[in-house]
Amino acid sequence: TVAMELPSRPELFDFRGVSMTHFFTDNWENVQNFKARPDDVLIATYPKAGTTWVSYILDLLYFGQTSPERQTSVPIYERVPFLELIVPKFVPGLDQVERLPTSPRLIKTHFPVQFVPKSFWEQNCKIIYVARNAKDNMVSYFHFDSMAMIEPDPGDWNNYFQRFMQGKVVTGSWYDHVNGWWKKKQTSPNVHYMFYEDLVEDTGREIDKLCSFLGLSPSEDERKRITGGVQFDKMKKNNMTNYSTHARMDFKTGSFMRKGRVGDWKNHFTVAQNEEFDEDYKKKMKDPTLQLRTDL
Ligand code: A3P
Repeated sequence: TVAMELPSRPELFDFRGVSMTHFFTDNWENVQNFKARPDDVLIATYPKAGTTWVSYILDLLYFGQTSPERQTSVPIYERVPFLELIVPKFVPGLDQVERLPTSPRLIKTHFPVQFVPKSFWEQNCKIIYVARNAKDNMVSYFHFDSMAMIEPDPGDWNNYFQRFMQGKVVTGSWYDHVNGWWKKKQTSPNVHYMFYEDLVEDTGREIDKLCSFLGLSPSEDERKRITGGVQFDKMKKNNMTNYSTHARMDFKTGSFMRKGRVGDWKNHFTVAQNEEFDEDYKKKMKDPTLQLRTDL
């Protein structure tokens, strides 16, 4: 029957205090024992915070000049493997990392800070964290879960809204994730904490900051080329960065490069939801030094 051919969506369960599906925990032992190299660069995010954007920026900074063929033939999700992802019939993220021919290796994770394999800390790897305001993050995640068949069924918006606030989505609580990484950054000079909203506001400025963190000094031409090449419309058209080649997405229901804006939450949140959200947010986000902008 047709129903049997549809891929079944996974169940969410509690894994060490964080909501997960088995696609991100089945390889736990191996991932925890991962041996990082000192020059590995880890890109850590809560899902839908701008992972692909920053991955592409880093890829261009490191390999834009030296491997032009990479830019036209290797999709971004292969250039920057997803460490903990393990899906039947696909090469596990960990193995993809180990097979990377290039150096440094750029590695993606959605783990909360306490799940990061200890080798990354022992080797003093550079780690880039990207945070996005919770409202837009929630909206983006809702749309993504609708089309990504490896995700649990998002249900309707009202239901999703509640579950996001409760942390009952893959990778758990957004609040714990951004707070946990923020706290870590205070004591770890190897963590560079970025904001999606800052990148939208001034991509060039944020690329400069990234470069000084990483010790890179691209020429002025190169910097301009990268800043131009990573704009939303360019990435949306680029088959190597728009996920159109990915087997696990359903592009009949939407696109990976969806809107790329700050403030789209206003098209989804009702007035009542916004009030409920703000009330709850205040209780969970007590650190006044961590401010995320929901508007530009
Ligand atoms: P929207 O769904 O709000 O459009 P991730 O890569 O972590 O999965 O994040 C995906 C989100 O980042 C999507 O948000 C996507 O459109 C946005 N994004 C990706 N590239 C972007 C770019 N160059 N400029 C702005 N937003 C971008």
